[in-house]
Amino acid sequence: MNNPITARYPSNIALVKYWGKHGNQLPCNASLSMTLSQAYTEVNLFLQDKKSEEPEFTFLFNGKPKESFRQRILKYILKQKEFSGLLEDYALHIESQNSFPHSAGVASSASAFAAIAAALLKASQGDETDFPEQQASRLARLGSGSACRSFYGPFALWGKLKDIPDSNDEFAIRLGDIHENFQNMRDSILIVEDKSKSVSSSLGHSLMEGHPFAESRFKQANNHCMDMLKVLKDGDFQSFIYITEREALSLHAMMMTSREYFMLMQPETVKIIDEVKRFRVDTGLPLCYTLDAGPNIHLLYPKTIEDEITPFVNNFLHNHTIKSMINDYSGRGGIIS
Ligand code: DP6
Repeated sequence: MNNPITARYPSNIALVKYWGKHGNQLPCNASLSMTLSQAYTEVNLFLQDKKSEEPEFTFLFNGKPKESFRQRILKYILKQKEFSGLLEDYALHIESQNSFPHSAGVASSASAFAAIAAALLKASQGDETDFPEQQASRLARLGSGSACRSFYGPFALWGKLKDIPDSNDEFAIRLGDIHENFQNMRDSILIVEDKSKSVSSSLGHSLMEGHPFAESRFKQANNHCMDMLKVLKDGDFQSFIYITEREALSLHAMMMTSREYFMLMQPETVKIIDEVKRFRVDTGLPLCYTLDAGPNIHLLYPKTIEDEITPFVNNFLHNHTIKSMINDYSGRGGIIS
């Protein structure tokens, strides 16, 4: 086998949530995320000799064939004109692995499609040396919306905001001008439930069509993005906490009030939310939570208060409120070679 192209891209956690899409993977509102470090996907792409005229594509996930993923990725590759030459010239073989357990409540499609799009783009680029990150972010979005944000850290914005010049729906942009308070953020991911989540993101997004609160939700998210841009610049922890927690609960409120509804929080999720609030009031420390479309909790806090947070978090492990924990922190994006 020839040397592969290796792409390692992290997942990201949305502070302002993308929930609702239209057209070709375009978001109904802007979203803003923190890029992670330890939760990543590594993809090795091998370009092999073809044996037939037909597209040839093989795929291993964690060393084993995974037909459902293979089909989703092949469909994705066939749809992108940028990649059609690759399938004509080569038999493509992808080996993909995650640094975190599948269904651990970490968005695996974000890191996976960021890494897959980056590797395929690099392969289709030939000898060109400069890697076109913006194009990679756009192509990743076409695989999974949130993936476009994994290219830029520590924070990325995806979606058009009328007062932010470079923002757009096609790809994410890096946020510059981040106050030192937010330069080194921790994300302790508390795994309340490690079984597959019960709402697929495609179904979830589609439930925003005709949702009674859709328009106000999209407006709220765009306003939260604008507010969060200022917060990240000014270093204002209090507003960071307010927006982040409100977003998490708004996302779940949307799921609970859609025509087919989902209640994804577990009793432990609610218990932890209560304890986080109490801890914050008692200590005055800037600790807050966010949630994805599932029951697990992301605890966010600056590295500077890690020593005070660790015993609080470990307690959830000791008393079995949570099954496990992933310790992550904000990062700068991926690597491709
Ligand atoms: C709740 O990016 O997984 O995590 O575009 O259909 O692949 P698709 O959706 P996906 O949706 C993520 C939803 C979310 C919020 C977010 O990451 O912004």
